[in-house]
Amino acid sequence: MTSPLSGVHVTGWGSYAPSLVLTNADLERMVETNDEWVVSRTGIRERRIAGPNETTASMASVAGLRAIATAGLEPDDIDLIIVGTLTPDYPMPSTAALVKQAIGNKRAAAMDVAAACSGFVYGYATAHAYVASGMAKNVLVIGAETLSRYTDFTDRGTCILFGDGAGAAVLSASDEPGGTMGIEMTTEPSGAYYIWLPAGGSARPTTNATLASGEHYMKMKGAETFKMAVRTLGSTSLASVRRAGLELSDLDLVVPHQANVRIIEALAKSLHFPMEKVFVNVSRYGNTSAASVPLALSEAVASGRVKQGDRLLLVAFGAGLTSGAITLQWTADPAAMARAAGIGPADVTIQPGYLEPTNPFPAALEWLRAESGAAS
Ligand code: UT7
Repeated sequence: MTSPLSGVHVTGWGSYAPSLVLTNADLERMVETNDEWVVSRTGIRERRIAGPNETTASMASVAGLRAIATAGLEPDDIDLIIVGTLTPDYPMPSTAALVKQAIGNKRAAAMDVAAACSGFVYGYATAHAYVASGMAKNVLVIGAETLSRYTDFTDRGTCILFGDGAGAAVLSASDEPGGTMGIEMTTEPSGAYYIWLPAGGSARPTTNATLASGEHYMKMKGAETFKMAVRTLGSTSLASVRRAGLELSDLDLVVPHQANVRIIEALAKSLHFPMEKVFVNVSRYGNTSAASVPLALSEAVASGRVKQGDRLLLVAFGAGLTSGAITLQWTADPAAMARAAGIGPADVTIQPGYLEPTNPFPAALEWLRAESGAAS
């Protein structure tokens, strides 16, 4: 069947996760919690924490370079760079601008997308529109987050959930059959304050008072978010698959936002969809927000879960409450990711600003870094 959307394919993919690991046992030393509670309520066992020399832009750049190499392209082949993130290096310039410089691209337009955990899926949809309209041939879409710098490590309701990382994809124009088939995006502002970072914007600029009350950290109404997430993930998934002219039973693999394994299981149950066809890696990374879908997609391909011709559903939800779902037919050769072997943090340099450098690593986790002997 010919989908109404055609001609836009994922040709490259890649991810990056920092090396420092924060386990549930480590969190037990910081807040009143325990491994059994965290695993049974969330499925999370550990998450990664960016080192002092890492930022959202640096991790995004490594994932981006890997995706470009996998696509068999050079950085200058990219016409547009989109970074989905809620943890940019700075409110301005965009993280995408820093990525452009770090990967050595001389010609792309670059911008960030603010859709929280749906940032990669929203970025994918934007990239699709650019390629489908002929405004771009190759777009680099990245989801990247350094959530550890916005996490209150005294709040057990949130600090157990989040982690750092990056994932990326290259979307390219091609006349081959397959590629993107159905896109659905929604926003439900009734849930706008379920997940919230109150201070630092124009409504609540940072002051000594906002700092003292911890308003520069993420706040979340967990139970409310959970319920709305299951509902919107389900409706967004169905709408995307139907737009593609398919049924859920036509899908080979679902790659959902990795927030909580119970949310993923509830989604599968509500759709009567088998968990065997759902990719889950939340146990090792926690919730990496916009990075989660592309990080999971890269791991799914690397682990042999995706074959050429497979029909995939990428689906996410996040603050806003945003939700987005992409139905696509995978056409790239999974073996192409061997081209990215050898690309790592040493290959990217973020242009520094002109103020005195600072150590952005969370003070609450310095003990972990010292114990793990991490150099970065
Ligand atoms: O990308 C989107 C990001 N957000 C999400 O996906 C969050 C969605 N929500 C969730 O994942 C879940 O709501 C949580 C994992 C955050 C919480 O799970 P829950 O089953 O909804 O627990 P709860 O908040 O209803 O809390 C149950 C109990 C409470 O004790 P009381 O009041 O019943 O005595 C909490 O205080 O568990 C307690 N609790 C904890 N206990 C041990 C809350 N956090 C913890 C903890 N360790 N870390």
